[in-house]
Amino acid sequence: MNNNRDRTNTNISCGQDGHDLARSMESTDWMEQVRNLNAEHALSTGKVRTFRLDVFGCQMNERDAETIAGMLTNMGYEQVSHDEPADIIVFVTCCVRENAEEKIYGHIGALSHECEKHGSIIVASGCMMQQPHVAEKIKKSYRNVKIVFGTHNIHDFPMLLHRYLTKRKRVFEVWEKEGRVIEDMPIKRSHRHKAWVNIVYGCNNFCTYCIVPYVRGRERSRRREDILEEIRALASDGCREITLLGQNVNSYGNDLGKKDLFARLLYDIETVDGIDRVRFMTSHPKDLSDSLIKAMKECSKVCEHLHLPFQAGSNRVLERMNRKYTREHYLDLVERIRDAVPDIALTTDIIVGFPGENEEDFEDTLDLVRRVRFDAAYTFIYSPRKGTPAEKWEQTESPETISKRFQRLLEIQTDISTQLAKKYEGRTVEVLVDGPSKSNPEMQSGRTRTGRLVNFKGDTDLTGQMADVNIIRAGAFWLEGKEGKRRG
Ligand code: SAH
Ligand code: SF4
Ligand code: F3S
Repeated sequence: MNNNRDRTNTNISCGQDGHDLARSMESTDWMEQVRNLNAEHALSTGKVRTFRLDVFGCQMNERDAETIAGMLTNMGYEQVSHDEPADIIVFVTCCVRENAEEKIYGHIGALSHECEKHGSIIVASGCMMQQPHVAEKIKKSYRNVKIVFGTHNIHDFPMLLHRYLTKRKRVFEVWEKEGRVIEDMPIKRSHRHKAWVNIVYGCNNFCTYCIVPYVRGRERSRRREDILEEIRALASDGCREITLLGQNVNSYGNDLGKKDLFARLLYDIETVDGIDRVRFMTSHPKDLSDSLIKAMKECSKVCEHLHLPFQAGSNRVLERMNRKYTREHYLDLVERIRDAVPDIALTTDIIVGFPGENEEDFEDTLDLVRRVRFDAAYTFIYSPRKGTPAEKWEQTESPETISKRFQRLLEIQTDISTQLAKKYEGRTVEVLVDGPSKSNPEMQSGRTRTGRLVNFKGDTDLTGQMADVNIIRAGAFWLEGKEGKRRG
């Protein structure tokens, strides 16, 4: 029986089977204690302590970073930008591929000068820390990392920080296994007009290449009421768009003993006033149900965009990846989704160079890409991950062959993305404006319902507003608009 939701048990323990509500209260107490220490520090030095965040990886990490920022703000720290020194530098790490890990080691190493000069400390958290060999390496070789915690004990950060501040000894605490879902943690959201909303944590799928189930634990769904309460609160705070998060959103609720809860959740969210757009990621092709397709068609707030990773186009490779669907099933799904929502934008993830993938298998991937015509594809070269089944499988192809295949795929996909983008030229699209463009601050930028990036000129700052934008030029990864007019 799933007992995740027992809110009456008041047994508090330091181990992994305490209680969610008690845990969040415990965190609140520790936050107060750290806040007091910081108030004393501010009184004696006249300085407020600061923090900055370095976030890697997927949306789950972005969302976790908002909780970490929320806790630090609650404890009296002030967030500073990337080019300013900070008392605490928090890394929220990712280990999905080796290059992600290497990058993070590089960034941490490069901070030794700042740590010495300003007395900054580094906090390392996130998926990478869930691997014992990583925590060991950090302990041994990265002396400026003073606090380490993992994905399952984020709520312990205030307690660990208090321990460090009072004892000045390095604190390493990573839970091997997931605990219960903990609600009511503080949060400092990155945006007001759009928000990430977790619906299910962890993954049960164990694709043979993937480390996520090992570092994020088994699936745990949040209660429907907790999710809806959060979304209602977001809407009354001015949020217009939400993105529901899960490694496999389609299995939302399976651990609560009910089927097809995800589709029902979309209908529930449809009734929340103030929310105009609903997105979700990621969908697993093996679990995408007819009722979900129906909900996508019927719920006007659900955006016309679906991220549906297919990973490989060859059935032989899909089977070895343990993906539990065939290319035929995938193509059939695409057809049914396009029948239901004709203008839907489809995006996907693809891995090139999985062990044993030969030229013929790779051609199957290219064939699927050409048939489906995705709006965008996130393409990755396979990276062996410690502890996964595929780590031990023999690689039959040379790095050069794999790299050439990767380039071929990229060229074909960029071509398709460009052709599909051209269809936007001359059209007026609805854009939710995020703010000044990162590449050109004179332009404003935002996203269409289909998830396309739009840059446009506007006389007034439209951040957080819906705007109608007339598209004049289109490239594979951006659309350029003439001017943005506030909608309504
Ligand atoms: N839960 C999501 C995404 C997981 S990670 C899903 O199932 O789709 C994001 C993407 O990283 C995956 O879709 C996959 O394409 C890629 N990925 C995961 N492990 C990888 C590995 N070992 N090497 C290369 N790419 C990988
Ligand atoms: Fe990894 Fe597969 Fe789970 Fe996605 S569904 S997180 S690729 S194991
Ligand atoms: Fe990376 Fe963890 Fe996400 S490994 S992709 S940050 S779940």
